[in-house]
Amino acid sequence: MKKHDKMSLESLVIHAGIEENEYLAVVPPIYQTSTFAFDSAEQGAALFSGECQGYIYSRMGNPTVVALEKSLAALEGGYGGLACGSGMAAIHTTFATLLQAGDHLVCSDAVYGPTCTLVETILPRYGIDCTLVDSSNLSAIEEAIRPNTKVIYVETPGNPTLVICDLEAVSALAHRHGAKVVIDNTFMSPILQQPFRWGVDVVVHSLTKFLNGHADVVGGAIVAKDQEQYLAFRKVLNQLGGILPPFESFLVHRGIKTLALRMGRHCENAAKVADFLEQHSAVEWVRFPGLKSHPQYEIARKQMLGPGGMISFELRGGLEAGRTMMNAVKLCVLAVSLGGVESLIQHPASMTHASMGAEARHRANITDGLVRVSVGIEGVEDIIADLDQAMNAIKS
Ligand SMILES: Cc1ncc(COP(=O)(O)O)c(C=O)c1O
Repeated sequence: MKKHDKMSLESLVIHAGIEENEYLAVVPPIYQTSTFAFDSAEQGAALFSGECQGYIYSRMGNPTVVALEKSLAALEGGYGGLACGSGMAAIHTTFATLLQAGDHLVCSDAVYGPTCTLVETILPRYGIDCTLVDSSNLSAIEEAIRPNTKVIYVETPGNPTLVICDLEAVSALAHRHGAKVVIDNTFMSPILQQPFRWGVDVVVHSLTKFLNGHADVVGGAIVAKDQEQYLAFRKVLNQLGGILPPFESFLVHRGIKTLALRMGRHCENAAKVADFLEQHSAVEWVRFPGLKSHPQYEIARKQMLGPGGMISFELRGGLEAGRTMMNAVKLCVLAVSLGGVESLIQHPASMTHASMGAEARHRANITDGLVRVSVGIEGVEDIIADLDQAMNAIKS
């Protein structure tokens, strides 16, 4: 039994993946190398054939990257993690492993824009069909399933509408039909949602967001439930090549040490910001999993350990008012991405979800006036004061 098998998530973020090293350095070194020397020609051949274990070449494995991968697997409660060059590289590698020509995929309609573009325009070029559905509607998912459906892919809460999918129910449904469930757990991180506990088969992440938490790395991850699946992902990742380099792996692993603390603060701040927005006369509607007005509030309470730091809302003045507000923020940064320590504000229809096109956005309820905020860990009174003064700019 490994030393971290019984640890809480709060301890795992600090200790998982940190192993004894040559000099007993408390923080393991960064192995900034592309390749590893062999003891002999025979040993090199044995490493390649799998007769002995060790590092060969950093696309195939690197100790700094492996340390992060062990941490990710421990946090998600999976068998093995695979660090990828971006969230999109992780999603692409997952589809390339689980699907082949002739297969069908059911995908939530409210997903990160480029994920939607990938399943709608790139996978069909390889003979893989996709049906987009409202993942909060179980019968819509069931209706979309075909005999050749191999994967049901969901983001929950979905980006940017924060629609929630019942993970236990969708996993049971998928397994009845011989399909696997893949979830993008980026919005929650393993601190707030443990998908394997609900029967999910594969977890993917954009490490760029909450896991790294400091807006200075682009990265992604796949976490596999069992050894067979892990080896299949490893083989495809090795051939496709979308790996995370050692320095970025080190930074993400360092960021993870404060993940539990940060997620707690993101949740607290976002709950207060959501309350403020819901009571503001300039706001038409607010979506936040911690608000009772969220349509899937009860499912959120069942499967999520906190509401997260993401809020979507629309102003009464629609798109024009939203633009005025975004141009008037001072503390919040007008930028895409999310999950960093700083609060970010952006407009999905013209930014993160522009690539999916107006029709797909309409189907996913991503209205033109929707504004998305990633609530940071600043003093919440400062965030609220900033949003308030920015909304005052609308009236003048
Ligand atoms: C939910 C979600 N999944 C995946 C991605 C893609 O991640 P990356 O930008 O690291 O490729 C993003 C990016 O914003 C995202 O928000």
